Amino acid sequence: MSTIRVCAYAKINLTLDIVRRLPSGYHELRSVMQQVDLCDEVTLALSADGISLTCDNCAIPADQTNLAWRAAELMRERYCPGQGVRLHLHKRIPVGGGLAGGSADAAAVLLGLNQLWDAGLGLPQLVQLGAELGMDVPFCLLGGTALATGRGELVEPLPHLPALGVVIVHPGFSVSTREAFAGLDGAALGNVAATETMLRAVQSQDVRQIAAGLHNAFEASLRRRAPQIDQIKRALLAQGALNAVLTGSGACVFGLCPSQAEAERVAGALRGAFPQLYVARTHQAGPALASDGP
Ligand code: C5P
Repeated sequence: MSTIRVCAYAKINLTLDIVRRLPSGYHELRSVMQQVDLCDEVTLALSADGISLTCDNCAIPADQTNLAWRAAELMRERYCPGQGVRLHLHKRIPVGGGLAGGSADAAAVLLGLNQLWDAGLGLPQLVQLGAELGMDVPFCLLGGTALATGRGELVEPLPHLPALGVVIVHPGFSVSTREAFAGLDGAALGNVAATETMLRAVQSQDVRQIAAGLHNAFEASLRRRAPQIDQIKRALLAQGALNAVLTGSGACVFGLCPSQAEAERVAGALRGAFPQLYVARTHQAGPALASDGP
């Protein structure tokens, strides 16, 4: 097999609580993360010429700074010296939206190369490599529904949610994760009640309770700076979303709906006002090898 395609799924945060600032400058957090079926497609082809990368979105650097490239470099350095791969990213996940698009691509590269280069690594080893690349990469390898703790890199699987519809709205501006953490005010730190409540809701599989419990510690400060966040939340709720919240460090907001059909209806009503809008549903399977080449 010389070519592999991997679906790299986006994530949303049902809750995101920030426990405290760590001496390292990072933050300890507790978050219930959920994979959704909005995905990039990562193609990996064996190459005799080292690592190379192309991408169909020119806003994304197709060079050594890209997390997908760094994932390949790390895998090669640690386990597969002398190997080469041509990577291509077909981007569908909006960039800078809090949906872990870059991390999902990196997770897909690790998973694809494990097969293409016959590295023979198990999921725990891949997760360990992923954590060296970025805090969302371990979750992207695991997929489904999970509790993320530590700096976000410690992930424990949770029971799968019932299939829910998700309307994701990009407000037209991006937020840098580093800046979002740096700009947090003290009031956003130390309260982990939302994640504890969400863990109970996930166990009970109660969709209304899950929706009612959505929470993001970054949201209050971003709402003060960007009135679009409130506009989007209000519009999603007015059209019948069960609830709506910021994802990750922003700037996308998602609305939760009881089904994909309902999410399509809500999206149809909002597309005129918010053109950067995506419909997805909760996805439970982790990254997937899409097909094998010759
Ligand atoms: O993990 P990732 O590289 O995506 O994180 C980007 C930046 O976000 C980090 O360099 C750090 O400044 C900040 N961050 C943090 N606490 C975390 C995760 C990220 O302060 N738990």
